[in-house]
Amino acid sequence: MRFDPSPPLRGNLRVAGDKSISHRAAIIGAMASEPVRISNYLQAADTRSTLAALGELGVIGQEQGEDVVIRGCGLRNAEVPQGSLDVGNSGTLMRLLPGWLAFQRDREFVLDGDESIRRRPVDRIAAPLRAMGAEIEVREGRYPPLRVRGAQLAGLRYELPVASAQVKSCVLLAGLITDATTVIEPVPTRDHTERLLLRAGAPIVREGDPRTGYRVTVGNADELELEAIEVPGDLSSAAFLIAAGVLVRGSRLLLEGVGVNWTRAGFLRVLGRMGGIVLGELEPEGHFGALEPVADLDVRSAPIEATTVEGHEVPLAIDELPLVALLGCFAEGETVVRGAGELRNKESDRIATVVEGLRGLGAEIEATADGFAVRGQGALRGGRLEAHGDHRLALLGAVAGLASQEGVEVSGMEAAAVSYPGFVQDIARLAA
Ligand code: S3P
Repeated sequence: MRFDPSPPLRGNLRVAGDKSISHRAAIIGAMASEPVRISNYLQAADTRSTLAALGELGVIGQEQGEDVVIRGCGLRNAEVPQGSLDVGNSGTLMRLLPGWLAFQRDREFVLDGDESIRRRPVDRIAAPLRAMGAEIEVREGRYPPLRVRGAQLAGLRYELPVASAQVKSCVLLAGLITDATTVIEPVPTRDHTERLLLRAGAPIVREGDPRTGYRVTVGNADELELEAIEVPGDLSSAAFLIAAGVLVRGSRLLLEGVGVNWTRAGFLRVLGRMGGIVLGELEPEGHFGALEPVADLDVRSAPIEATTVEGHEVPLAIDELPLVALLGCFAEGETVVRGAGELRNKESDRIATVVEGLRGLGAEIEATADGFAVRGQGALRGGRLEAHGDHRLALLGAVAGLASQEGVEVSGMEAAAVSYPGFVQDIARLAA
């Protein structure tokens, strides 16, 4: 699909539901004792995979108008499915669901997914779940399919070897029925699981601060109970519109109801340093509570400056780092991202695919072991970008095209349906 240089983007838009929170609302809803109504649940391939997988476990997920109602089976009563559970393209589903399944005593489950999922590591969840007492088998010691046999789990004190919200969430879910399980994170990562568990009445305590990271302890949950949940707009999807709004001259966008949890909003802080203008009240750093904050974001086009993103900022902007690379192309000077080796474990190796993709459009960009460096030229020529089946690459190529001199042909744009199926229509509306 082709994306030509765009006229100014203008107007208001309500961004679709947050992917991370939709997955969690459905999974924690499945573990709850009473039905849970979720509004603004993301309707995209990844979150459909979650509803389908939960269905195989005996959980009923029904669409009621704009909402999804989840009738769960309680903490300990997941049913054994006919065959393996298909997570599709979703790393979050692959890594969170085993946390629950690990304590379905004497029942066995197999999780598998698409070609991309089969290249993404799951040893990071296998290790703590085994340490808690579950039996786990993975392919070549590292990759899906993953087989989990549930057991009576013991509590664990687990220091995350990688700053991963998925691993943290998996261990916290498994820890619910232990006496006490503590996850220690080296630097803060998104805390949507903690907030939802708090809201569901689970005993959960967080200690620490934004600089040192947090220790989160759960345990002794009898049952979970959630009332209605309203999923905020997805900041990671909004980020593509924000970057387009900043880069396409004369643009002015109002993005309504976007989730601005500070553990997700790193991109907005980085963008602010780059000169991007986004007005809206963000959640103060370090805040924690049962609710997810939302804001209306007022985006205006602006000239871009180079910046450096350091390792401690990476988890709070991990999915938006490809956009930092794109923005860097339009800066004067060098934009550097360090400490982001985790990008290699995403839907594609996002260090390799971003560098190859943007270079093909005329960017001066180099890969490093744990990030990239871009020499900004104040503009981007354009050309052809291959999405490699990665939704965020496809969306990156599209935004690059809108801001480029000659347009971009994105090969594999259909991958965007994983997180943001309405992107092309949204852009058409804002450009009209
Ligand atoms: C996610 C956490 C991040 C992120 C992914 C979604 C989540 O992954 O990249 O898109 O919902 O917990 P890691 O936890 O592997 O860093």
